[in-house]
Amino acid sequence: MAGKSYCDLGCGTYHPYGISTIFYLNGAVSTVGLDVEDADEIRAAEALYDLLIDCIAYPEKWCWEANMNRAEFVERARSFNLNALQNGQLRAGIGDLPLKHVVTDIHDPVIAKESIDIMSSRAVLEHFLDFGVAVDRLFALMRPGGVAYHHIDLADHRAYWRNSSYHRWSFLAENDDWSDNLTNRLRASEIRPYFEKTGFNVLKYEIIRKTMPKGFEQYLKGRFRSMSKDDLEALTVFCILVKP
Ligand SMILES: C[S@@+](CC[C@H](N)C(=O)[O-])C[C@H]1O[C@@H](n2cnc3c(N)ncnc32)[C@H](O)[C@@H]1O
Repeated sequence: MAGKSYCDLGCGTYHPYGISTIFYLNGAVSTVGLDVEDADEIRAAEALYDLLIDCIAYPEKWCWEANMNRAEFVERARSFNLNALQNGQLRAGIGDLPLKHVVTDIHDPVIAKESIDIMSSRAVLEHFLDFGVAVDRLFALMRPGGVAYHHIDLADHRAYWRNSSYHRWSFLAENDDWSDNLTNRLRASEIRPYFEKTGFNVLKYEIIRKTMPKGFEQYLKGRFRSMSKDDLEALTVFCILVKP
């Protein structure tokens, strides 16, 4: 990790520096959290304060890099302005440390090409509505030799807030031209070719499946009607991509 730059893609509004901070404490030279939404500053500052205190109190829990010694790890954690963070002041808490938060749309990001060595995301890629363009942009941001880890949530997100009306496959019963303007509805078998076409080497492509509700297959519409059961039941993808 030493000397590497890290990017938390789609870092969210509540804890946009969280994962970046763990990478920084473990030796990353710089980090950037990217999101189309701005941070909830007070909540983000308090969350970061809690995380740093935990890192200082229990470095054995958070210091993962074999070459990082605990004393330097704790020193890095103490180099944040903890007082400012505790008082909800995010920018003052980060000060001059090399951790950035950039509000940008990944379809047209405002950060330098080939600037990232390590990237990760959780529950973000399913939101990229023009997936081909977004994957091209991700490829351009990575430095050659860079590694990306993405967790992709393939579920119908309406099931998270209206689960009495929708389940995780409901949107497969909507027509091909339907959109919630939130998720791209791509299935596991459709996503991987985008990575390969762009030039990534796919090192790992793990698919988690769950059983669809009984009898739901008769309601499938459009292209989903001709998909295999294996593909339809895929709900989560964990993948590791390398830019050659
Ligand atoms: C489900 S949230 C996940 C947040 C965070 N990764 C987590 O695990 O808590 C998805 C995030 O992706 C961001 N996002 C969606 N579309 C984006 C885009 N086109 N460019 C950048 N970020 C985007 C959203 O603003 C949101 O913060």
